[in-house]
Amino acid sequence: MDVKIVKDKVAGGQLAFDIIKEDITNGAKVLGLATGSTPITLYQAMIASDLDFSNMTSINLDEYVGMPFDNPQSYHQFMKDNLFNKKPFAHSYVPDGMAEDIEQAAEDYEKIIAANPIDVQILGIGRNGHIGFNEPGSDLEGRTHKVQLTESTIEANKRFFEREEDVPRYAISMGIGSIMQGKKIILLAYGEDKADAIKATVEGPVTSHVPASVLQNHDDAIIIIDEAAASKLSK
Ligand code: GLP
Repeated sequence: MDVKIVKDKVAGGQLAFDIIKEDITNGAKVLGLATGSTPITLYQAMIASDLDFSNMTSINLDEYVGMPFDNPQSYHQFMKDNLFNKKPFAHSYVPDGMAEDIEQAAEDYEKIIAANPIDVQILGIGRNGHIGFNEPGSDLEGRTHKVQLTESTIEANKRFFEREEDVPRYAISMGIGSIMQGKKIILLAYGEDKADAIKATVEGPVTSHVPASVLQNHDDAIIIIDEAAASKLSK
């Protein structure tokens, strides 16, 4: 794991952008994208750049189950608002949380990933160490599947909803095994809230209790964090 400590989230977004830009120059065609507040500064750097993504493919990590695509809280809508409306890709895939048969939608999504191997996978991290919506205890080799969100994730996400009851309880997410297939993985984390998860990810054992710790087993994983998120690391 290559840990890079930056001044703040703007510097983190810029550094991630610079890495992606170089990969695109070297032929990268497929980006794995994430939602949440963390990747927004990266998306702002992409929007501000003169890079054109219209011959590239994007594949998103996850989506809530049962959330209409045009709901402002859906990850489909988030990606449009924060990136795709300004920088369209040739193809942008987000898991279909509205499918009648979620298991089938998950299988279909794995076929999309197999046909479009991800060159650079962007990740945020949950306070409990989750990546995508792979909560603690998830199968480290899992594929795209339906997940039940933990209380801690529901609690963290409720700030986006009027009432806690409105926070979805289920999501469809790429599995840890699907994520690990990315040729390069860039995990971003900012703020003190993420310090425990970062310590466990970087310095703890590889364990399904901290899904992000599996990145220790990846050949090309880059962790970009600010000083607050790095504050519990021992060195
Ligand atoms: C959600 C998303 C994750 C994201 C996490 C952290 O759970 N499914 O992909 O990493 O939130 O969000 P934030 O970046 O807002 O802290």
